[in-house]
Amino acid sequence: MTADILKKNVPKHIAIIMDGNGRWAQKRFMPRAIGHRAGVRSVRNAVEYCANNEVEVLTLFAFSSENWRRPAVEVELLMALFMSSLQREINRLDEKNVCLRFIGDRTAFSEKLQQKMTEAEIQTKGNSTLTLVIAVNYGGRWDLCQATQTVIEKIMSGALDKQEITEQLINEHLSTAGLPEPDLFIRTGGEQRVSNFMLWQLAYTEMYFTSTLWPDFDQRYLDEAVKSFQGRQRRFGHTSEQVLNQSVTL
Ligand code: IPE
Ligand code: IPE
Ligand code: MG
Repeated sequence: MTADILKKNVPKHIAIIMDGNGRWAQKRFMPRAIGHRAGVRSVRNAVEYCANNEVEVLTLFAFSSENWRRPAVEVELLMALFMSSLQREINRLDEKNVCLRFIGDRTAFSEKLQQKMTEAEIQTKGNSTLTLVIAVNYGGRWDLCQATQTVIEKIMSGALDKQEITEQLINEHLSTAGLPEPDLFIRTGGEQRVSNFMLWQLAYTEMYFTSTLWPDFDQRYLDEAVKSFQGRQRRFGHTSEQVLNQSVTL
Protein backbone atom coordinates (compact mmCIF):
# COMPACT_ATOMS: atom_id res chain seq x y z
CA MET A 1 0.00 0.00 0.00
CA THR A 2 1.32 3.47 -0.82
CA ALA A 3 0.68 5.82 1.98
CA ASP A 4 -0.52 9.31 1.21
CA ILE A 5 1.28 10.92 4.13
CA LEU A 6 3.08 14.17 3.53
CA LYS A 7 6.61 13.31 2.54
CA LYS A 8 8.00 16.15 4.57
CA ASN A 9 7.85 16.12 8.34
CA VAL A 10 7.83 12.34 8.56
CA PRO A 11 8.72 11.27 12.11
CA LYS A 12 12.32 10.12 12.19
CA HIS A 13 11.67 7.74 15.06
CA ILE A 14 8.38 6.02 15.84
CA ALA A 15 8.11 4.03 19.10
CA ILE A 16 5.17 1.69 19.60
CA ILE A 17 3.68 -0.14 22.57
CA MET A 18 2.04 -3.04 20.79
CA ASP A 19 -0.84 -3.72 23.16
CA GLY A 20 -4.11 -5.61 22.90
CA ASN A 21 -3.11 -9.03 21.54
CA GLY A 22 -4.77 -10.90 24.41
CA ARG A 23 -8.06 -9.00 24.12
CA TRP A 24 -8.07 -9.44 20.34
CA ALA A 25 -8.02 -13.22 20.83
CA GLN A 26 -10.42 -13.25 23.77
CA LYS A 27 -13.00 -11.31 21.74
CA ARG A 28 -12.88 -14.22 19.31
CA PHE A 29 -13.08 -16.82 22.10
CA MET A 30 -9.59 -17.94 21.25
CA PRO A 31 -6.54 -18.41 23.50
CA ARG A 32 -4.30 -15.36 24.04
CA ALA A 33 -1.54 -17.16 22.15
CA ILE A 34 -3.48 -16.72 18.91
CA GLY A 35 -3.54 -12.97 19.53
CA HIS A 36 0.23 -12.88 19.96
CA ARG A 37 0.68 -14.81 16.70
CA ALA A 38 -1.69 -12.45 14.90
CA GLY A 39 0.36 -9.55 16.27
CA VAL A 40 3.41 -10.66 14.27
CA ARG A 41 1.57 -9.71 11.05
CA SER A 42 1.14 -6.17 12.35
CA VAL A 43 4.86 -6.04 13.10
CA ARG A 44 5.59 -6.90 9.45
CA ASN A 45 3.15 -4.20 8.30
CA ALA A 46 4.69 -1.55 10.53
CA VAL A 47 8.22 -2.40 9.37
CA GLU A 48 7.16 -2.25 5.74
CA TYR A 49 5.38 1.07 6.22
CA CYS A 50 8.38 2.64 7.93
CA ALA A 51 10.86 1.32 5.37
CA ASN A 52 8.70 2.68 2.51
CA ASN A 53 8.13 6.08 4.07
CA GLU A 54 11.62 7.07 5.13
CA VAL A 55 11.11 6.63 8.84
CA GLU A 56 14.65 6.12 10.15
CA VAL A 57 13.96 4.23 13.37
CA LEU A 58 11.06 2.05 14.50
CA THR A 59 11.10 0.84 18.10
CA LEU A 60 8.67 -1.89 19.10
CA PHE A 61 7.99 -2.82 22.73
CA ALA A 62 7.75 -6.60 22.56
CA PHE A 63 8.23 -7.71 26.19
CA SER A 64 8.52 -5.54 29.26
CA SER A 65 10.57 -6.18 32.38
CA GLU A 66 7.20 -6.57 34.13
CA ASN A 67 5.81 -9.14 31.67
CA TRP A 68 7.63 -11.93 33.58
CA ARG A 69 4.73 -11.59 36.03
CA ARG A 70 2.42 -13.29 33.51
CA PRO A 71 1.56 -16.98 33.78
CA ALA A 72 4.60 -19.13 32.95
CA VAL A 73 2.91 -20.68 29.91
CA GLU A 74 2.32 -17.27 28.35
CA VAL A 75 5.90 -16.16 29.04
CA GLU A 76 7.20 -19.38 27.45
CA LEU A 77 4.97 -18.89 24.45
CA LEU A 78 6.14 -15.31 23.98
CA MET A 79 9.80 -16.42 24.14
CA ALA A 80 9.18 -19.20 21.62
CA LEU A 81 7.34 -16.81 19.32
CA PHE A 82 10.15 -14.29 19.60
CA MET A 83 12.73 -16.92 18.69
CA SER A 84 10.76 -18.37 15.76
CA SER A 85 9.84 -14.93 14.36
CA LEU A 86 13.46 -13.85 14.57
CA GLN A 87 14.62 -16.96 12.72
CA ARG A 88 11.90 -16.64 10.09
CA GLU A 89 12.19 -12.91 9.44
CA ILE A 90 15.91 -12.20 9.70
CA ASN A 91 16.86 -12.86 6.07
CA ARG A 92 13.86 -10.94 4.78
CA LEU A 93 14.75 -7.97 6.99
CA ASP A 94 18.34 -8.16 5.82
CA GLU A 95 17.22 -8.16 2.16
CA LYS A 96 15.12 -5.08 2.88
CA ASN A 97 18.24 -3.36 4.22
CA VAL A 98 16.84 -3.22 7.78
CA CYS A 99 19.30 -2.97 10.66
CA LEU A 100 18.13 -4.85 13.74
CA ARG A 101 18.98 -3.80 17.29
CA PHE A 102 17.73 -5.15 20.61
CA ILE A 103 17.38 -3.12 23.80
CA GLY A 104 16.66 -4.53 27.23
CA ASP A 105 18.35 -6.83 29.72
CA ARG A 106 19.11 -9.86 27.59
CA THR A 107 20.96 -11.77 30.31
CA ALA A 108 17.57 -13.19 31.40
CA PHE A 109 17.17 -15.05 28.10
CA SER A 110 18.39 -18.52 27.17
CA GLU A 111 21.93 -18.75 25.77
CA LYS A 112 20.49 -19.82 22.44
CA LEU A 113 18.18 -16.83 22.18
CA GLN A 114 20.94 -14.42 23.21
CA GLN A 115 23.15 -15.90 20.52
CA LYS A 116 20.42 -15.52 17.85
CA MET A 117 19.94 -11.90 18.88
CA THR A 118 23.64 -11.12 18.58
CA GLU A 119 23.87 -12.95 15.24
CA ALA A 120 20.92 -10.97 13.87
CA GLU A 121 22.54 -7.71 14.96
CA ILE A 122 25.83 -8.65 13.34
CA GLN A 123 24.16 -9.85 10.11
CA THR A 124 22.23 -6.58 9.66
CA LYS A 125 24.78 -4.17 11.10
CA GLY A 126 25.58 -2.38 7.84
CA ASN A 127 21.94 -1.91 6.73
CA SER A 128 20.65 1.61 6.44
CA THR A 129 17.06 1.86 5.16
CA LEU A 130 15.51 1.46 8.62
CA THR A 131 16.77 0.67 12.10
CA LEU A 132 14.33 -1.69 13.78
CA VAL A 133 14.76 -1.63 17.55
CA ILE A 134 13.07 -4.42 19.47
CA ALA A 135 12.64 -3.75 23.18
CA VAL A 136 12.67 -7.09 25.00
CA ASN A 137 12.91 -7.47 28.74
CA TYR A 138 13.09 -3.71 28.54
CA GLY A 139 12.08 -1.24 31.22
CA GLY A 140 12.70 2.49 31.30
CA ARG A 141 13.78 2.26 34.93
CA TRP A 142 16.15 -0.60 34.09
CA ASP A 143 17.66 1.54 31.33
CA LEU A 144 18.31 4.41 33.74
CA CYS A 145 19.77 2.01 36.33
CA GLN A 146 22.17 0.37 33.89
CA ALA A 147 23.29 3.77 32.58
CA THR A 148 23.83 5.01 36.15
CA GLN A 149 25.91 1.93 37.00
CA THR A 150 28.23 2.48 34.03
CA VAL A 151 28.58 6.19 34.73
CA ILE A 152 29.42 5.51 38.39
CA GLU A 153 31.97 2.85 37.43
CA LYS A 154 33.64 5.41 35.15
CA ILE A 155 33.70 8.00 37.92
CA MET A 156 35.16 5.51 40.40
CA SER A 157 37.88 4.48 37.98
CA GLY A 158 38.73 8.14 37.34
CA ALA A 159 37.73 7.99 33.66
CA LEU A 160 35.00 10.56 34.24
CA ASP A 161 34.44 13.53 36.49
CA LYS A 162 31.06 14.12 38.14
CA GLN A 163 30.88 17.59 36.53
CA GLU A 164 30.80 15.83 33.18
CA ILE A 165 27.39 14.30 33.88
CA THR A 166 25.12 16.08 31.42
CA GLU A 167 21.94 15.10 29.61
CA GLN A 168 24.11 14.32 26.60
CA LEU A 169 26.28 11.98 28.68
CA ILE A 170 23.24 10.17 30.09
CA ASN A 171 21.91 9.79 26.52
CA GLU A 172 25.16 8.17 25.50
CA HIS A 173 24.87 5.56 28.25
CA LEU A 174 21.26 4.58 27.68
CA SER A 175 20.51 1.48 25.61
CA THR A 176 19.25 3.81 22.86
CA ALA A 177 22.62 5.59 22.50
CA GLY A 178 23.13 6.93 19.02
CA LEU A 179 19.44 6.85 18.09
CA PRO A 180 17.34 9.99 17.70
CA GLU A 181 14.72 10.46 20.43
CA PRO A 182 11.26 9.18 19.46
CA ASP A 183 9.19 11.82 17.64
CA LEU A 184 5.98 9.82 17.75
CA PHE A 185 4.85 7.38 20.43
CA ILE A 186 1.92 5.11 19.63
CA ARG A 187 0.09 2.83 22.05
CA THR A 188 -2.57 0.54 20.68
CA GLY A 189 -5.13 -1.35 22.78
CA GLY A 190 -6.86 1.55 24.50
CA GLU A 191 -4.73 2.00 27.64
CA GLN A 192 -3.33 5.47 28.13
CA ARG A 193 -0.14 4.81 30.02
CA VAL A 194 3.57 4.44 29.38
CA SER A 195 4.07 1.14 31.27
CA ASN A 196 7.76 1.77 31.99
CA PHE A 197 8.73 2.28 28.34
CA MET A 198 11.56 4.72 27.45
CA LEU A 199 10.95 7.02 30.42
CA TRP A 200 13.85 9.37 29.69
CA GLN A 201 13.63 9.29 25.91
CA LEU A 202 9.93 10.22 25.72
CA ALA A 203 10.45 13.64 27.34
CA TYR A 204 9.35 15.57 24.21
CA THR A 205 7.71 12.84 22.16
CA GLU A 206 4.25 13.37 20.66
CA MET A 207 1.85 10.83 22.18
CA TYR A 208 -0.83 8.99 20.21
CA PHE A 209 -3.23 6.55 21.86
CA THR A 210 -5.69 4.41 19.93
CA SER A 211 -8.19 1.80 21.01
CA THR A 212 -7.36 -0.31 17.93
CA LEU A 213 -5.97 -3.64 19.14
CA TRP A 214 -2.45 -4.41 17.92
CA PRO A 215 -3.38 -7.35 15.59
CA ASP A 216 -5.84 -5.00 13.80
CA PHE A 217 -3.32 -2.17 13.50
CA ASP A 218 -2.62 -2.18 9.76
CA GLN A 219 -0.86 0.44 7.62
CA ARG A 220 -3.98 2.63 7.37
CA TYR A 221 -4.02 3.04 11.14
CA LEU A 222 -0.32 3.77 11.22
CA ASP A 223 -0.85 6.35 8.50
CA GLU A 224 -3.55 7.99 10.63
CA ALA A 225 -1.14 8.21 13.55
CA VAL A 226 1.55 9.78 11.34
CA LYS A 227 -0.96 12.27 9.96
CA SER A 228 -2.00 13.22 13.49
CA PHE A 229 1.69 13.82 14.24
CA GLN A 230 2.06 15.97 11.13
CA GLY A 231 -0.84 18.15 12.20
CA ARG A 232 0.76 19.08 15.52
CA GLN A 233 3.00 21.99 16.38
CA ARG A 234 6.02 20.97 18.43
CA ARG A 235 7.31 23.80 20.55
CA PHE A 236 10.01 22.40 22.87
CA GLY A 237 9.32 25.18 25.34
CA HIS A 238 9.09 28.04 22.82
CA THR A 239 5.93 29.99 22.12
CA SER A 240 3.72 29.21 19.18
CA GLU A 241 4.65 32.54 17.55
CA GLN A 242 8.36 31.82 17.79
CA VAL A 243 7.83 28.52 16.00
CA LEU A 244 5.59 30.06 13.31
CA ASN A 245 8.06 32.90 12.66
CA GLN A 246 10.81 30.32 12.40
CA SER A 247 12.88 32.54 14.64
CA VAL A 248 14.07 29.45 16.54
CA THR A 249 15.57 26.14 15.52
CA LEU A 250 13.84 23.17 17.07
C1 IPE B 1 0.69 -7.00 24.18
O1 IPE B 1 -0.56 -7.56 24.24
C2 IPE B 1 1.78 -8.02 24.02
C3 IPE B 1 2.66 -8.16 25.18
C4 IPE B 1 2.59 -7.50 26.29
C5 IPE B 1 3.71 -9.14 25.07
P1 IPE B 1 -1.17 -8.06 25.61
O2 IPE B 1 -0.81 -9.49 25.80
O3 IPE B 1 -0.79 -7.17 26.73
O4 IPE B 1 -2.71 -7.93 25.31
P2 IPE B 1 -3.85 -7.48 26.31
O5 IPE B 1 -3.47 -6.13 26.85
O6 IPE B 1 -3.94 -8.51 27.39
O7 IPE B 1 -5.08 -7.44 25.45
C1 IPE C 1 3.18 -3.14 27.77
O1 IPE C 1 1.99 -3.85 27.69
C2 IPE C 1 4.32 -3.99 27.33
C3 IPE C 1 4.32 -4.45 25.94
C4 IPE C 1 3.45 -4.16 25.00
C5 IPE C 1 5.42 -5.29 25.61
P1 IPE C 1 1.30 -4.50 28.97
O2 IPE C 1 0.01 -5.04 28.49
O3 IPE C 1 2.22 -5.43 29.63
O4 IPE C 1 1.08 -3.22 29.91
P2 IPE C 1 0.23 -3.05 31.24
O5 IPE C 1 0.70 -4.09 32.19
O6 IPE C 1 -1.21 -3.24 30.88
O7 IPE C 1 0.51 -1.65 31.70
MG1 MG D 1 -1.66 -5.51 27.55
